[in-house]
Amino acid sequence: MPESEQITARHSSTIPRHVAIIMDGNGRWAKQRRLPRIAGHRAGVKSVRRVVECCIDTGIEALTVFAFSTENWRRPQKEVGLLMELFLNALEKEVKKLHQHNVRMRIVGDRSRFPMKLQNRIAEAERYTSDNTSLTFTIAANYGGRWDITQAARELGHAVERGELEADKITEEMLQSGLSLSDLPEPDLFIRTGGEQRISNFLLWQLAYTEFYFTDTLWPDFGKESFFAALESFASRQRRFGRTSEQVEREVSL
Ligand code: IPE
Ligand code: IPE
Ligand code: MG
Repeated sequence: MPESEQITARHSSTIPRHVAIIMDGNGRWAKQRRLPRIAGHRAGVKSVRRVVECCIDTGIEALTVFAFSTENWRRPQKEVGLLMELFLNALEKEVKKLHQHNVRMRIVGDRSRFPMKLQNRIAEAERYTSDNTSLTFTIAANYGGRWDITQAARELGHAVERGELEADKITEEMLQSGLSLSDLPEPDLFIRTGGEQRISNFLLWQLAYTEFYFTDTLWPDFGKESFFAALESFASRQRRFGRTSEQVEREVSL
């Protein structure tokens, strides 16, 4: 039995519906090999492909990966330019394959700062795969959790200005519905590779009750085994959402 099937069989009730990943460590991976940083980013694209396959095989509904943060513009201009190029090429190369696997692809973040050619390619990829029903694969690019919450708050502000909403009536659900991933279940499992243990302005609102998993493995080295190790860790956790473990256990045994 392939490993993915074993995992599915063993933990069918404890497979996360939505996995969110900070893909970190590309630069260090390249440095270890005395290669330019972009070689690490290129190798990172292969890891994305592997993880997408794992998600399809295990029946995970949604995968969201952090590809470029609102802070990553602070990197040397050359690296930013090469990253944009890599993003464009990867979209060109991978979209057909994703479509064949029935994957729905979306990009979240402020895309207005991207080169026009990339913006067009993104819109095309989203349109092309929009009716697919297996995995929803979201790439966060020029994304920041603070940006996301701010743009949702701005929308509510506009509704108040138009007289359609009273400020006192604003609820969590209303703010949530203006966020980038509002149509997906909140991430169950968050993975960060590369050894750092921080959120780096990724999904701030959506990670409120997510299980965190950190690994020293650098993103280009993150393969199927590493992904299954994260799933195993997730399967062993008890999610209490504020309740006591006795309450949770009683519910499970009912
Ligand atoms: C993550 O790898 C990819 C991006 C942020 C685009 P890094 O480029 O941050 O790799 P390290 O952290 O320098 O090793
Ligand atoms: C976070 O990684 C962003 C992405 C993986 C796209 P960084 O490597 O940029 O994060 P910091 O700067 O170390 O927190
Ligand atoms: Mg990094």
